[in-house]
Amino acid sequence: MMLKFKLNALALMLALGCGAAHAASDDALIKKGEYLAVAADCTACHTASSTQPFAGGKAIASPVGAIIATNITPSKTDGIGDYSEQQFADALRKGIRADGAHLYPAMPYTAYATLTDDDIHALYAYFMSGVQAVDHPTAQTHLPFPLNLRFSMMFWNALFLKAPGYQPDAAQTASWNRGRYLVEGAAHCSTCHTPRGFLMQEKTADAFTGAQVGSWYAPNITANPVSGIGQWSQQELVTYLRTGRLAGKAQAAGSMAEAITHSFQHLSDADLTAIAEYMQSVPDHTAFASGPARFTQGTPGNNLVAFRGQAFTQPVSDEGARLFSGNCASCHGSSGQGTKDGFYPSLFHNSATAERNSSNLIATILFGVERDTAQGNVFMPPFGAQPNALNHLNDQQVATLSNWILHRYGNQGVTVSPEQVAEIRAGGPSSPLVLLAQFGVAGAVLAAIIVLIWLLWRRKR
Ligand code: HEC
Ligand code: HEC
Ligand code: HEC
Repeated sequence: MMLKFKLNALALMLALGCGAAHAASDDALIKKGEYLAVAADCTACHTASSTQPFAGGKAIASPVGAIIATNITPSKTDGIGDYSEQQFADALRKGIRADGAHLYPAMPYTAYATLTDDDIHALYAYFMSGVQAVDHPTAQTHLPFPLNLRFSMMFWNALFLKAPGYQPDAAQTASWNRGRYLVEGAAHCSTCHTPRGFLMQEKTADAFTGAQVGSWYAPNITANPVSGIGQWSQQELVTYLRTGRLAGKAQAAGSMAEAITHSFQHLSDADLTAIAEYMQSVPDHTAFASGPARFTQGTPGNNLVAFRGQAFTQPVSDEGARLFSGNCASCHGSSGQGTKDGFYPSLFHNSATAERNSSNLIATILFGVERDTAQGNVFMPPFGAQPNALNHLNDQQVATLSNWILHRYGNQGVTVSPEQVAEIRAGGPSSPLVLLAQFGVAGAVLAAIIVLIWLLWRRKR
């Protein structure tokens, strides 16, 4: 009797001990999943209101129309509460929903395909046990025919989706492999920085050579010293990813500012260094390897001197100078030199004014800059937001001002037209797929193209 009691007590103690150990390992797993969810920036698309993390509802602008990010809280009625770990893995790495329907690649499953089983396991634990369920449905996605046919993604995936998981390169360091794993997978850098082909697929041969992302342009970030960021040191890239600012070279606005605010700034030093190490090994063979890089262009110059003393009521000879003086010089300086601490950046030696693609200069003027990091809030007011505001600039004014800045401080070979400004204001160029879809025959044409490519692809194997 005594012995039995002792044994029972022992069993109980063991069970309790194991329970505690189990809970601790659960906690560690959920923490790991949370870190991965931050690295993967799930919140960027799946959180519409900060009071309801991951409850979805945000419309993700894509060149073929808005796609609504769904509720991925563990809600059983409106979220992914009923997803098994396998179904979760398939949604993340194969773009297949629990009900078998195909997701659009606005959900970056082409990148998340890289995630290892271990990391999927941790993410699943976090979304099931570390996220608050929100019982709230999201609106439906409506794309024009034939893009509304989700099964057509099956063909697209057959052509463009890689096999799940990550194959380490044994010839490289552990840190390089970690960097590549993050860049290609969770951090999904290529979904913005790699140009896309006709069917919206990433052109892998031109990886990281720069691409339009809505109104903004994600520049070439290969290690090419002229077209890319080959002249940046490893530490400089880490600083940029951590703070969004690299004085005398670049600042992050638009979707890069969001990615830094929600994701990259929170990564460990080791992970950011690994990302930088990998990026410094990514080649761009097609571009020149000598000549001025975009960060070295432009010089300061007091271009407002000639303009001083003229009354504002007089018709002005230099409209660009007037616009610059009235709207920009107060922060960026009369010579475009910015402030010494770089809080207000110089407009020369600035990637936004020297990039051949002028989208970021135009978009900065129209939409401003907003970024939150441990260094504080960074804010430049938008000059294109409210048509009735005092500081509203129309398309012609933005073009005139951009050209004035480009000519004095940036890339003199670039010219901005009012039509370009209108396009950036409206959210950027749209895909030829939409044009196709708008013609009556679109469905047939697209289906024929897809079947043709499919057949060719089959034959090649
Ligand atoms: C760039 C935007 C974006 C990011 C980042 C993103 N998602 Fe999504 N996700 C979407 C969109 C849009 C959909 C809906 C797509 C559709 O309807 O075809 C979606 C759908 C899903 C679904 C399917 C849910 C359902 O049943 O409808 C899951 C699961 C999911 N995402 C999980 C995640 C997780 C986990 C992460 C982070 C690791 C993540 N997503 C990051 C945009 C994103
Ligand atoms: C959601 C889209 C998006 C993602 C994801 C993204 N970027 Fe960017 N990135 C941009 C945009 C847009 C810019 C231009 C920002 C600007 O100049 O204001 C940019 C700018 C940059 C720049 C500055 C280049 C220059 O010349 O000014 C670097 C470096 C960079 N990104 C690296 C990365 C890395 C590394 C990753 C992944 C860890 C990444 N980005 C992920 C959109 C993105
Ligand atoms: C109230 C102060 C203020 C005014 C006025 C202002 N800016 Fe800025 N500007 C900023 C700040 C702050 C940043 C972001 C610095 C950073 O990212 O660290 C910025 C960034 C920029 C950038 C770099 C953006 C990028 O993506 O790299 C450009 C270009 C620029 N401003 C041009 C202009 C022009 C043109 C005007 C006039 C229409 C103007 N700014 C007016 C404060 C201002």
